[in-house]
Amino acid sequence: MPRASGRAGRASRRRTSSPARRLDGKIAIVTGAAQGIGAATSRLLAREGAAVLVTDLNVAKGRAVAQAIRKEGARALFQKLDVVSEAGWKRVIARAIERFGGLHILVNNAGVAIPNNIETTSRADWRRVIAINLEGPFLGMKHAIPVIRSSGGGSIVNIASSLALVGATGSTAYCASKWGLRGLTRSAALYCAKQGYRIRVNTICPGAVETPLLERQLKRHPKGREAALKEIIAAEIPIGYAGQPDDIAHGVLYLACDESDFATGTDLVIDGGHRAE
Ligand SMILES: NC(=O)c1ccc[n+]([C@@H]2O[C@H](COP(=O)([O-])OP(=O)(O)OC[C@H]3O[C@@H](n4cnc5c(N)ncnc54)[C@H](O)[C@@H]3O)[C@@H](O)[C@H]2O)c1
Repeated sequence: MPRASGRAGRASRRRTSSPARRLDGKIAIVTGAAQGIGAATSRLLAREGAAVLVTDLNVAKGRAVAQAIRKEGARALFQKLDVVSEAGWKRVIARAIERFGGLHILVNNAGVAIPNNIETTSRADWRRVIAINLEGPFLGMKHAIPVIRSSGGGSIVNIASSLALVGATGSTAYCASKWGLRGLTRSAALYCAKQGYRIRVNTICPGAVETPLLERQLKRHPKGREAALKEIIAAEIPIGYAGQPDDIAHGVLYLACDESDFATGTDLVIDGGHRAE
């Protein structure tokens, strides 16, 4: 397999492409895009010119995200996808080709957190978390890579977590799934680079971000939502405030567009300084 054309190739690619928006002409799939980080990412990628296939299990909310994007004059379609379904992945990728003409960007964002320690995690919960958070991105990358390659190359962004960098007593399966996702990302990144595919693969490791996922955890706290949020900020976020979905979406945009042409197999930590401590 021929290698990519190296520095000269990259320079000429940059010279010939000076788009008004950072993703003009690109086609993206975002998973778990009905709310939270996935919805914010879909909106931002579309605003920057990408045609976005918004996917999620939640049909009503996912359709609403795609509709809102279209109302802004950008391109988006919704398709239901359970990321653990290989047949579902094949359908979604076929739809991207059929409706938009190819694929350049895959954002593996869908994820679930089931808080439990090593003694209380049931086997069923373990399997569910690993299936959605780790096997889902594996299936997505496996089926997307040949299509991204034949579309001229692109970028895969896997949403891991700051819990992919440390251990956590109360998030056993989640922590394992996100560490696994970082390993999977590096393996795929090296494979694509060494095959000469123009496909970069990176993770983003967000800290606490105010989304429905975090809200569910805050509401379970005995002292109530506000006290719980203050506790998290005091304990985990040196910058003094929680992240918003757009904070992560901007990281995805950077890794998805050609400005990050030299970044592959790495982690972008966006956590208000938590892991700097
Ligand atoms: N919010 C945070 O504080 C935080 C921190 C670190 C990492 N993350 C990661 O960011 C990603 C997005 O998190 P969020 O906070 O926006 O979560 P969220 O719960 O608000 O949204 C997740 C979306 O994924 C969808 N989903 C769940 N299972 C699915 C499946 N099997 N197939 C397809 N879609 C599915 C849900 O329907 C939902 O729309 C996750 O991978 C999460 O682990 C979030």
